[in-house]
Amino acid sequence: MSISLIIASSDEHFRETIHDSLVNIANTKVIAEYPEVSSNLYIRVLQDLERNPNAALIVDMALDTEDAFKALEKVKQAAPDVYIIVSSYQADGETVIASLRAGANDFLVQPLKRAEFRDAITRMERTPRRAASGESRLGKVYSFLGAKGGVGTTTLAQRQQQTVLVDLDFTANDCAMQVGSSPQHTLTDIGENLSRMDSALFEGLVTRDPLGFFLVSPPDHVEQRVQFTEPMFREFASFLVEKHEAIVIDAGRWISDELVLAALQSSSMVFLVVTQHFPAIRNAQRYIAALVRLGLSQDQLKIVVNQYQKKPDSNLATLDQIQQTLNQPAFYGIPSSASAVASVNRGRPFVADRGAGDLDRAFRAFVDKATGARSATAKSA
Ligand SMILES: Nc1ncnc2c1ncn2[C@@H]1O[C@H](COP(=O)(O)OP(=O)(O)OP(=O)(O)O)[C@@H](O)[C@H]1O
Ligand SMILES: [Mg+2]
Repeated sequence: MSISLIIASSDEHFRETIHDSLVNIANTKVIAEYPEVSSNLYIRVLQDLERNPNAALIVDMALDTEDAFKALEKVKQAAPDVYIIVSSYQADGETVIASLRAGANDFLVQPLKRAEFRDAITRMERTPRRAASGESRLGKVYSFLGAKGGVGTTTLAQRQQQTVLVDLDFTANDCAMQVGSSPQHTLTDIGENLSRMDSALFEGLVTRDPLGFFLVSPPDHVEQRVQFTEPMFREFASFLVEKHEAIVIDAGRWISDELVLAALQSSSMVFLVVTQHFPAIRNAQRYIAALVRLGLSQDQLKIVVNQYQKKPDSNLATLDQIQQTLNQPAFYGIPSSASAVASVNRGRPFVADRGAGDLDRAFRAFVDKATGARSATAKSA
């Protein structure tokens, strides 16, 4: 049996030691690695378990022990079947018992010793266990990232009902404009109120579109960007996935922004939006390489070709060329539609627009395919 591990530790040396120890143990691999033991660790672990239901977790409690315990309890609550090894410098009875109570299956004292680590892996292999159920009750985060400006990222990030649309494109800040609403509050207010966030407060701070989705917008002034930090985003994301079924993020196109990165890392799927223009595809290639380096898996990344033409003229890339260059199949092709532009001009989401039937159909089929709904019958790229 092969063993997949998820490591959470703010100590780089600890993470490296585990990698080193694994070299000598057959059929083991690290499938995810987190440089912190944060309160929303469970979200990432749940996402990892969806792809690797047999993965086990190693949590380093040495730093921030109290927070690490809280994080551990949340992981165990969210994924009761996951096998957890806890590690710390303190190995007094109290710490060990507290770890076991919080959900650990095993305990390893630090500094890690190879022989002890190997024994822990053997104990884990011998423990009969159920695969952690991949079906989590958490909402899913879907990010849309543009390989270039104007490729249609914002247009595609619109969806309807029970969805929270978070506009993280501080520069463009045009989700609100595109769906025709004028927000009273912004991410700045969300950041200021995070510690007491609940559903009632949340609904007071976001814009509710008549179609039923909640819109969270960046502040009007670009320079206020700094007030909403990456840790704030992570905390906000935990709140969102606990309370809402689907969270759609307009991630703009600046992957060097730490906020955008955090959003992409919390996403079940990242839709990389391209058009058939060569510069967009070239950028997409660079983005894919960067995102994989940053820890996103190929299967989390989906290529969406917007304004897709089956038989493009010679200035545009064909689907085959795109797939070859990006070395992965395109997930979906959204046709070009005059009604997309018309909806923006009218300030109505095209999903609410009767005239936008063609785009609406393509888009619903796309959403079905993305969420795994069965009715995905329309053509996919
Ligand atoms: N499938 C489509 N068919 C026709 N027009 C489209 C389509 N998708 C997007 N558009 C139009 O292209 C323009 C740019 O779209 P959008 O604002 O969504 O792009 P973006 O990638 O978010 O751009 P930015 O970099 O400015 O944020 C808009 O006018 C939009 O209506
Ligand atoms: Mg945009």
